[in-house]
Amino acid sequence: MSTPGPGSVALITGGAGGFGRALATRLRALEVTVVLTDLDGERNRAVAAELGCPFLPLDVTDRAANEAVVAQVEAEHGRLDAAYLNAGISAAKSDDALDLDEFRRVVEIDLFGVVYGVQAARPALRRAGGGAIVVTASLAGLSPMAGDPGYSVAKGGAIAFVRSMAPRLSAEGTTISAICPGFADTAIIDRLRDQFTAAGFPVLSAGEVADAMVTAWSAAEPGAAYVVQPGVGVVPYRFKGVPSARTGAGETAVVPEGLRPPSMR
Ligand SMILES: NC(=O)c1ccc[n+]([C@@H]2O[C@H](COP(=O)([O-])OP(=O)(O)OC[C@H]3O[C@@H](n4cnc5c(N)ncnc54)[C@H](O)[C@@H]3O)[C@@H](O)[C@H]2O)c1
Repeated sequence: MSTPGPGSVALITGGAGGFGRALATRLRALEVTVVLTDLDGERNRAVAAELGCPFLPLDVTDRAANEAVVAQVEAEHGRLDAAYLNAGISAAKSDDALDLDEFRRVVEIDLFGVVYGVQAARPALRRAGGGAIVVTASLAGLSPMAGDPGYSVAKGGAIAFVRSMAPRLSAEGTTISAICPGFADTAIIDRLRDQFTAAGFPVLSAGEVADAMVTAWSAAEPGAAYVVQPGVGVVPYRFKGVPSARTGAGETAVVPEGLRPPSMR
């Protein structure tokens, strides 16, 4: 099990964005080797250079590219201790018509990008003796987002994926957790910022979210989902659970062994 510190290696997807940059700065201060990945482009390469991080182009919807990036990190830095699966987009508009192409695009990046990232990072983290996967989900995954249903579906799916994968990853020494921030001051809220300002609605700084992302790595709590809200700080979300099935005798029914992953039998 690794902790953020000298000798450890982390990769960040969507690393040239607001949260990615703030996180890279925090991790670099802890002497972590940080590999920034993002869509290819001059701007993103320049951001990485400015932060003193190696840059690898990665579109998270490309399964093979996820694997290639992890292989390159291992080849160049010897190991991978933490994967921050942080790339994400929201819908460009929030009118009442649901644009299904855009819905699919958001789910492909924000949910499947996470699934592919976990699949790619898992063996490398295991080879390093266990590590951490931290997924940037959102408050929109825990509560409905009427203005952007696709985003809510993708982030809710990412949280469900994190919780469902936690036992089998944990058995390999890797912890997976999710960060669920409220609105934060990055490019993703550009089209909403004026409304927040006009309403006096508080938004998080990228640094506050980055602090929670670092804590999630060191806390190593399998399946945790951390809510981050302005004026509230970082709070582990407590899921209520659902009523268990009851046997005819009124006892709690136990899920058959064959339906659980091998690590839980
Ligand atoms: N800012 C907020 O209010 C807020 C709140 C909750 C969750 N989030 C989530 O935080 C994460 C980071 O967003 P941010 O706020 O830093 O916004 P941002 O727009 O600054 O950063 C997002 C980054 O993701 C990258 N990206 C987009 N599509 C990609 C793809 N297909 N492959 C690889 N990279 C891609 C972008 O190039 C960008 O650098 C996202 O998952 C977002 O959904 C943001």
